[in-house]
Order: sequence, then C-alpha cells, then structure tokens
Amino acid sequence: MRRVGKLGFVLVLIVALRAIPAKVVAGEPDSAAAERGRLALTSTGYLKPAWSAEAYQNVGTLWGPDSPNPVREPDRFAEAFRRRYGLAPAPYPNDGLPMGLRRGNGPDGTRAGIAIDCMACHGGSIGGTSLVGLGNTQLDMTTLFHEMMKADGKRPPLSPFVINSSRGTVNAGMFSVVLLSLRNPDLSFRKFPLALGANIPELDVPAWWLLGKKSTMYYDGRTDARSVRTNMQFMLGEKTLAEFKELEPTFRDIQAYFNNLKPPRYPFPIDHDLAKAGETIFNKSCAKCHGTYGETPKYPNRIVELDEIGTDPARARGISTRFVAHYNSTWFGADFPVDEQMIGYQAPPLDGIWATAPYLHNGSVPTLAALLNSSDRPARFTRPPSTDFVHYDTSQVGWKFLVPTDPAIPPASSKVWFDSSRFGLGNSGHTFGDRLTDPERRQVVEYLKTL
Ligand code: HEC
Ligand code: HEC
Repeated sequence: MRRVGKLGFVLVLIVALRAIPAKVVAGEPDSAAAERGRLALTSTGYLKPAWSAEAYQNVGTLWGPDSPNPVREPDRFAEAFRRRYGLAPAPYPNDGLPMGLRRGNGPDGTRAGIAIDCMACHGGSIGGTSLVGLGNTQLDMTTLFHEMMKADGKRPPLSPFVINSSRGTVNAGMFSVVLLSLRNPDLSFRKFPLALGANIPELDVPAWWLLGKKSTMYYDGRTDARSVRTNMQFMLGEKTLAEFKELEPTFRDIQAYFNNLKPPRYPFPIDHDLAKAGETIFNKSCAKCHGTYGETPKYPNRIVELDEIGTDPARARGISTRFVAHYNSTWFGADFPVDEQMIGYQAPPLDGIWATAPYLHNGSVPTLAALLNSSDRPARFTRPPSTDFVHYDTSQVGWKFLVPTDPAIPPASSKVWFDSSRFGLGNSGHTFGDRLTDPERRQVVEYLKTL
C-alpha cells in the first residue's frame, strides 16, 4: 500500500468534467461507450507499478529448484507463474503477462515495472477459458504480493488485516477502508489514519455481468449501482482528487462495459425435462428474491435482512457507521452516498451461476447441491488446483473438493483449504432449499444450469 501524493500530470479538464452526471451521455448508444470501456479497462493501466520487471524474471527462484527458467522457457515459466498465484491467461494483448498484471513505467518513471489492475480479482477462467468479469476463484493475493516484494529485494509489507486465508477469497473491502482512512474529506492525504472502525472479512468476487440487472450493488446492496466513483476506490492509494475527476468519464465507459457483459452458457448437456420441473419449483420458492429468467426476465433487487438470510453476518456488519459517514463526506459519496442503514445481503441475479462456484458472498459453499441442502455443506474443503473441467462436477454443479478425512490431503500452506470456522467465512444460512425433497433439489439444480 504505497502512497504517492504527487500530481502526475497537468490537470486541464477538472472544471469541465465536474458536473457530468453519472450516466451514459444522452443519445449515445450504450454499445459505443461499452466498447470504449472495454478498451480502457484492458489496454490501460491506472496504477503505478508495484514491482520492477526484474521481479517477474526473478520470482521463480523462490519456488524451489525445479522452477522453469524465464529466459530459456518463457512459456513454461508464464504457466508456472499463473498457477502459483492463481492468475488466468489474458484474453487481450498484455505483453505476455496474465490478467491482473500489466507492464508500465516503474516508480522512478524510467524502468519498466509491473502493476496490478482490476482483473487480478475480476478476471477469472472456467474450463480453461479466460473471462473478464468472472471473479477469480484461484487467486492467492497474499503469496503474489509477498513473493513479488521479496523478488524485488524488499521486505514484504505487514498487512493489518487478512488479505486471503484461502485461494479465491480476497479482502478488497479492507483495502478500501485502509486507503480511505488515509484521506481527509477533501481527499488530501493524511499522515495518520482515521479510526473508522470497519472490520470486513475476505470475500468471493462477484461477476460483473450481473451489474446490468442491479439497481444497488455490493453484497450488502448499500451503494447505488449507477455510482461510477465507487468503482474507482481501488486507486485510492495514489490518485489525487483532480486525477480522479479526470478519470471519471473513462470509468463511466467502463461501467457501460460492465452493464453490457453477458454470462457464459453452460457447456454440457442439460436434461430439459428435469430443468422444466425445476423452473416451476424455482418460480414458487426462489423467484421472489432472485427474479425470473427467460424471454421477459424480472429482477426484484431484494435486500434480505440478516435474520432471514442467516448467512455469515461479518461482511454486512463489518462496514461501520463511521466508515460510511467518512466515505459520504468525500467526492466518492457526493453523488451516490452509501445507504446509512444496513439491512443484510442482496439476493443476486443467478445468470451464469453455474460458472461462479463457490457460492455465497464468502464462497463458503462449494456446489449448488450443497447450497440447496445445508446439511451437506463441508466445514472444510479444498479449492480446485485449476479451473480445468476435470475438476468440475456437473452433477453437484461446482468444483470437486476434498475434505480433511480424504487420504491425499494437500498441505495447509498451499492455501487450497477453505475453512468455514474463520472470521467471516461461515457457511450457515440460506436454508430455502432444505424444505425441498432430493428429487426437487435435483430439478432446481438442473434449471439453474440454464440461466
Ligand atoms: C483485490 C481484489 C479486487 C480488485 C483489485 C478489484 N476488485 Fe472489485 N470487487 C472485489 C470484491 C471482493 C468485491 C465484492 C465487494 C463487496 O460487495 O463487499 C468487488 C466488487 C466490485 C463491484 C460490484 C459488483 C456487484 O455486483 O456488486 C464492481 C463494479 C467492481 N468491484 C469493480 C472493480 C473495478 C473497476 C476495479 C479496478 C479499478 C476493481 N473492482 C478492483 C475485488 C476486487
Ligand atoms: C428470502 C429471499 C431468498 C430466497 C427465497 C432464496 N434466496 Fe437465494 N439468496 C438470497 C440471498 C440474500 C443470497 C445472498 C446471500 C449471501 O451471499 O450471503 C442468496 C444466494 C443464493 C445463491 C448464491 C449466489 C452466488 O452468487 O453465490 C444461489 C445459487 C441461490 N441463492 C439460489 C436460490 C434458490 C435456488 C432458491 C430457492 C430454492 C433461493 N435461492 C431462495 C435470497 C434468497
């Protein structure tokens, strides 16, 4: 978490840009803005490099004697790098780097360095296909940060919070909290952090293709989905208020891109009779919260009280009143303030749900079958070694997993274990499937494949 308070460039547009409302400019087709947004997101870096280019070349020396040589075997090295840190190949030009990292000028402005971007968390893969907007369920951000710092000859920074205890979860919320605590309401930098009292756990990363349906966003549904500025918080480590304002139109295009994204289709055979029966049950038991699908979809945008949903409350409760007040006092909350009242969790749209296991906001349930039968949820389970389809379970729908009693259990140090007893990672609640019979649950799961 570096803090660079210096103005990077001349700021000519501030006055002109200040008053643009956060929506697509009238009369312009969404698709033109969406295409500009796609390019802006995938071809430009918005952060200064965190590491030198040499760190990427040298980091393999930390992996043990068998690590591939980055000069002699660049492809094998790139693959080993992606697997170790849980990054997917970039489906756009990216100078040989995986999604989530990109080359840019180094901290001193001369040396080429490596920066991190949104796709480290929001670029995932499924069955070997990389998708921008699919949450990255493989990422081990702690190890990536730690080893890249070491490869640069620096001491890995001490994080005041758990970034991730398991592959795939990540504590994006606390990054925001800590960075915003180092800003005054006018976004000038502070020397000492404000005590904002927020305590957010690590989370599963939501799919961007759901945003087009949502009128409120984030797991707690407390932010208006029209807010462009909220998507810029990731840059709070270094941008000035003037720089944020200059970038807002670009992020409005990026938002248009999110709103145009479509989920991937289920690639395996579907039993349409089962699915049809499942649809009837779904419309009776689930649609009031998750909406209906097909030709004329409806999405109710419901936020469900903690008592009713019963899932781990740490994320919802973790956002403090003081954090919300501080956020709302800055430019970020000026047009769309965060709702002061906490209710619970938003019932998400379920489009492309087959591709986004594990489930719930904290990724605590590995399959749809287990989500619909709470007594089947494992307390500890492994995350798959990759997103190749050999690890995908088409009957339970989600990732195959091992539990601690399996004979060949991987070591805890590999961060493949998900432990639901950790802070924020509880797997309770959402018991709406428990009242269904086994055959009914199978039908609903089959229907969910069609969304
Ligand atoms: C460190 C990982 C990480 C990075 C980097 C990151 N995000 Fe996120 N993002 C998350 C997580 C986790 C959530 C869920 C947060 C929540 O609801 O509490 C999220 C939520 C979102 C959402 C809301 C989705 C919804 O449906 O509610 C948007 C939009 C978003 N991020 C955009 C971005 C953009 C744009 C960037 C880059 C500028 C970015 N994110 C960088 C992890 C990350
Ligand atoms: C009372 C409202 C409500 C009902 C009824 C309901 N859900 Fe949910 N559902 C939610 C909420 C809220 C969440 C998010 C909870 C969380 O992440 O903590 C959720 C999460 C989910 C998820 C996980 C989404 C993800 O991206 O991880 C699936 C799948 C799901 N529900 C399916 C169903 C099915 C199938 C039914 C009917 C048997 C159903 N739900 C009934 C409110 C509801």
